[in-house]
Amino acid sequence: MTQKVKQSPICCGLMSIAGFTWLLVANTASGQTAEAFYASDVDSIVQAKCIACHRSDGQASYTELRYTKSVAGNHSVLERYVNSPTKGARANTFLSKIRGALGHGGGQVISQGSADYETFSTYMDLLSADEQPVDPSVLKVTLEEPVQGQVHTGVGNLRGWAVASEGITKVEILVDGVLAFEAPYGGERGDVGGAFPDVAGSSESGFSLAYNYSSLSAGPHTITAVAHNALGETKESAARFEVVRFDSPFIADPNAVNLDNASCIASSDEVSIVDALVEGSVYDLRLKWRTAEQGFEIIEIR
Ligand code: HEC
Repeated sequence: MTQKVKQSPICCGLMSIAGFTWLLVANTASGQTAEAFYASDVDSIVQAKCIACHRSDGQASYTELRYTKSVAGNHSVLERYVNSPTKGARANTFLSKIRGALGHGGGQVISQGSADYETFSTYMDLLSADEQPVDPSVLKVTLEEPVQGQVHTGVGNLRGWAVASEGITKVEILVDGVLAFEAPYGGERGDVGGAFPDVAGSSESGFSLAYNYSSLSAGPHTITAVAHNALGETKESAARFEVVRFDSPFIADPNAVNLDNASCIASSDEVSIVDALVEGSVYDLRLKWRTAEQGFEIIEIR
């Protein structure tokens, strides 16, 4: 399929800056006590799927697992069961019973791999965990764009997030190992806040700026984000990526790109443009759909 393109591919690249995919960080039940987790996540499953048999007048009334209406009481019943004679001793028995193994009188109530099963499994971990409070100190940074292994060109995002129990004092950006600048920090990140509910300020932990990847030479580069906490400790996150670019690092003249004599081949999620005129030179370009940017990006310039 060959057709004329009406719009400059450059603006597709620029428009894509608005699209983000926030990568969700799963951190189930961190910092939560077993009892709080029971109340928020587990009790509703027990009520719906266990209590009919596991109560004083039910089929399983003769077992150690007899639930009542009291949420705290039910947690205690389970805690005693799972942790006797030693911590976590019967966690596996418990998980086996609910998936119908070990001759469970109620058969399979919850299938392995289901969300409810995961909830019970997390609860077992919390019940079995050592009570020794783990060091709650957190220092984490994640660079989300540039994307490791991808091609970047023109003005795009440079973004990620950083959290620290002691507070983040700055996020430095290194280009090919050399300190380039500090990234503005404090952007809204509800997803990160959800993953680190115990870290103050975690929902305003984004850093983000527009970065001109074409200011780098064509070829491989590395960008590193270095997060500093108030104790002067640091953590890094880096991405190695490739730059493709036109001769000028920034094409300022709005008339510099002309596709009147260009042709265009589209296949799969790619568009190839042959004979594009850019600042008086003729180029062949390849654009590819990129999920992180929610748009087409130039991935090859020849
Ligand atoms: C249809 C009735 C029924 C349902 C529903 C049921 N069970 Fe049971 N369960 C039994 C019976 C009967 C026994 C006793 C026989 C045995 O040990 O398997 C039992 C035993 C158990 C045991 C072993 C108790 C012991 O003393 O060692 C565990 C653990 C257990 N069930 C967990 C659950 C959980 C958790 C649920 C809900 C997700 C559940 N069961 C739902 C009938 C049921």
